[in-house]
Amino acid sequence: MASILIKNAEIITMNQSEEIIYGDILIQDDRIAAIGPDLNPEQVDRVIDATNRTIIPGFIQTHIHLCQTLFRGKGDDLELMDWLRKRIWPLEAAHDEESIYYSAMLGIGELIASGTTTIVDMETVHHTDSAFHAIAQSGIRALSGKVMMDRKSSDTPLALQEETASSIQESVDLLEKWHGHDNGRIQYAFCPRFVISCTEQLLTEVRDLSASYQVKVHTHASENRGEIEIVQAETGMRNVVYLDHIGLANERLILAHAIWLDDEEKRILRERGVHVSHCPGSNLKLASGIADTPDLLHQHVSVSLGADGAPCNNNLDMFNEMRLAALIQKPAHGPTTMDAKTVFRMATIGGARAVGMSDQIGSLEVGKKADLAILNLYNFHTFPSFDVDPISRIVYSATRADVETTIIDGRIVMQGGIMATVDKDI
Ligand code: GUN
Ligand code: FE
Repeated sequence: MASILIKNAEIITMNQSEEIIYGDILIQDDRIAAIGPDLNPEQVDRVIDATNRTIIPGFIQTHIHLCQTLFRGKGDDLELMDWLRKRIWPLEAAHDEESIYYSAMLGIGELIASGTTTIVDMETVHHTDSAFHAIAQSGIRALSGKVMMDRKSSDTPLALQEETASSIQESVDLLEKWHGHDNGRIQYAFCPRFVISCTEQLLTEVRDLSASYQVKVHTHASENRGEIEIVQAETGMRNVVYLDHIGLANERLILAHAIWLDDEEKRILRERGVHVSHCPGSNLKLASGIADTPDLLHQHVSVSLGADGAPCNNNLDMFNEMRLAALIQKPAHGPTTMDAKTVFRMATIGGARAVGMSDQIGSLEVGKKADLAILNLYNFHTFPSFDVDPISRIVYSATRADVETTIIDGRIVMQGGIMATVDKDI
């Protein structure tokens, strides 16, 4: 049994009463065994002195494309449909087994180094098995799947067009191989890319498979006005109404972006318990729009955060997304509507709810998984004056340079910028 004792930290628990406590955390195997002042277990394998350090629940990013990490800098300054057609789809089509593996590893390295411990990921049509190998080896917690694109139209490039039956079969094969791998650290999620690239038959089959296997569906919707016009022309409906008509709008659905929504769509999201992944950096860079997140939260829609692919916002750093999520709302809604606590909640316990694991991750509590990051907030850009709110300091000042250690499932996966792999500890 492996145990780690972390001593003398400021602990931002994000438990029910959002307590901040000072003391120690004892990790035994994959779980938090104790939290409190002066823990003195008889025997531990490893002690981390966290004096003047802050421990937070690991960030949960609910929309990522690991396969796009290598495309950073390509197609900057384009809008969504041009960006996909001219840059991203040809690049995804050119991926091979090896390039996907390295793209995934590079992205995971960046995520872990910046305190993200769980991701909801979407790969491309081919070679998703390689990305799963990278996920397995890195130690990150992930829900991932191959992208599904079976619609024959000029909006799906030939090289990525699939047959409906093979798209489903390959997805199910990957699910059976990887879902539940490594003590449940890896889960499968069906990933129909967006309505534009999928047939109704495929979406209907995905609905049934997600129900029978009880796995998530991860897709994009209502990101860009041009995209919505295409969906309207092809289905006669708005995006979320169409997904609801198929029967996909339920608590297993994770919907990336969801910027342009009418009142009926917001009602559907709330009533069906759909989880929105807000991607503020990507929404700005692709000129997609500013999501009315305050209104979604006010209407009790579940909203968490994601960086999207690396080319959409240029880094996979949750500090950046939290900061943007708060800042972009301030001019229109005033300074307190999306305050630091709200976005920090979205980045932690909110993400845990989206992945259906709020009893396991998203806060630091005894019995939960040991997924956390240890921050040093005594750097120049974060140095505190007296009595400052540590969450505000993290949201508005911290960067990935402040993350010293990341622990997932009780394993140290990064310390001092050095990454472990599951077969090589640090
Ligand atoms: N919509 C469909 N595919 C994509 C993608 O790869 N990235 C983003 N941001 N939106 C999409
Ligand atoms: Fe995306």
